[in-house]
Amino acid sequence: MRKDLGVVPAVFPMPVLMVGTYDENGKVNVMNLAWGNIGTRERIVLNMGPDRKTLANIRLKKAFSVALADEKHVKEADFFGMATGNNMPDKFERSGLHAVKSEHVDAPIIEEFPLTMECELVEERQVAEGSIITGKIINVNVDESVLGENGKVDASKLHALVFDQFGMSYYKVGEPFAKAWNAGAELTKK
Ligand SMILES: Cc1cc2nc3c(=O)[nH]c(=O)nc-3n(C[C@H](O)[C@H](O)[C@H](O)COP(=O)(O)O)c2cc1C
Repeated sequence: MRKDLGVVPAVFPMPVLMVGTYDENGKVNVMNLAWGNIGTRERIVLNMGPDRKTLANIRLKKAFSVALADEKHVKEADFFGMATGNNMPDKFERSGLHAVKSEHVDAPIIEEFPLTMECELVEERQVAEGSIITGKIINVNVDESVLGENGKVDASKLHALVFDQFGMSYYKVGEPFAKAWNAGAELTKK
């Protein structure tokens, strides 16, 4: 028996993105954002509430960074989604994490997160619930520890967190179990 649930954001898993910005005084801020994803090969799309300090910073600097949160830093990642830079000036310092300036855009790279996309603002579209931010990926900066022997990112080394928006939980990513563009190949031959 099937059941209608009505309007529910019903995609699983969602990513756990760490959006890094600078404010007007060059202070680092990071927010946790699950409603975001790759739009095209070089574009990233983020859904942001209207009152986020991060949104104000993006409007100011026209740039931001997006890192993938990892298991080791679940406490800090969750904190970045609970506290706001609007009323906690030392939000980033409290996390104990470290930042360096991106060489490509006016945004910080958080050193402890292994993979960061450095982005320029392309467009802000205001919608009823906030803003849809589109960014252009200018560069992807990684810690070498997440690279495989072929020099590409090895997803299993990221230990990335994923978000369950039904149960409001973070999950660990499991093992790869089938090859894409391959698992269905047999059916193309029928
Ligand atoms: C798991 C998780 C996912 C979140 N996803 C989003 C999101 O997609 N968009 C958004 O605007 N806020 C999201 N938030 C809430 C913001 O991270 C939160 O409002 C934060 O305080 C904003 O920080 P800032 O004001 O310093 O930018 C999320 C929070 C958590 C814990």
